Amino acid sequence: MSRKAPIGVFDSGLGGLTVFKVLARRMPEESLIYFGDTAHVPYGSKSPEAIARYSSEVARFLAKRGIKLLVVACNTSSAWALPAIRKAVKVPVIGVIEPGARGALGVSRGGRIGIIGTEATVKSGAYEKAIRALKKGARTASAACPLFVPLVEEGWWSGEVVESVARKYLAPLRKARVDTVILGCTHYPYLKPVLARALGSRVRLIDSAEETARETEMILCDLGLRAPRGGRGRREFYASDAPERFRRLARRMLGAGVAKVGLHQFDS
Ligand code: DGL
Repeated sequence: MSRKAPIGVFDSGLGGLTVFKVLARRMPEESLIYFGDTAHVPYGSKSPEAIARYSSEVARFLAKRGIKLLVVACNTSSAWALPAIRKAVKVPVIGVIEPGARGALGVSRGGRIGIIGTEATVKSGAYEKAIRALKKGARTASAACPLFVPLVEEGWWSGEVVESVARKYLAPLRKARVDTVILGCTHYPYLKPVLARALGSRVRLIDSAEETARETEMILCDLGLRAPRGGRGRREFYASDAPERFRRLARRMLGAGVAKVGLHQFDS
């Protein structure tokens, strides 16, 4: 495998651009191919079987493009589909759950961790499992926040509506007196100030994107697969539906323009 091969980044839609952005900032010399499965988004309300099937198809598509490693930026897919994806492709696969769990335990003072995510992610209990595997006595509480994804995609990152939705969703976590909260969904980093206000300033927020990018860099170094320093990597984008909409929203989410978004459709 060539060190110059690209890293594949996959999400159900646009949200994974939060992970893409951190990867690009940390490792500008790495080439990145991003795939947003916009034909099937949202994964958060789909069945585990559908999530595994869609995720494997995307992983195979990226593997065919010669990636050296796959980052599954989608929390829902990381929660339900990692075994299927690892069966579908030969390259190393990194999900966001373990890095997020490790990051939370790293900063938590009292070992009381809150998790927020899509319905499917919360239902999977994947974060809880990862946290307990790392620290037996850790206490967890979780809350599904399904309205956050459409609010972020609409650009409603602040204001009365999102503040009030956040207070309602996060009330159980406040009641559970968590000291750290994992933002267990690609879109939530955009709501950090709102979430911080709803949870109170003493609660630490863990952005899985940052943790995952750190882990990706570490694994590439361990495998001797880091791209040569000093160069500038390519950036490629694909979507499985409505590439123009992807391009428009990507500009807002990345804070920079995206020249071209390729369309790749699946049969299912
Ligand atoms: N990317 C998804 C996640 O991180 C959120 C959007 C969806 O439901 O597909 O869980």
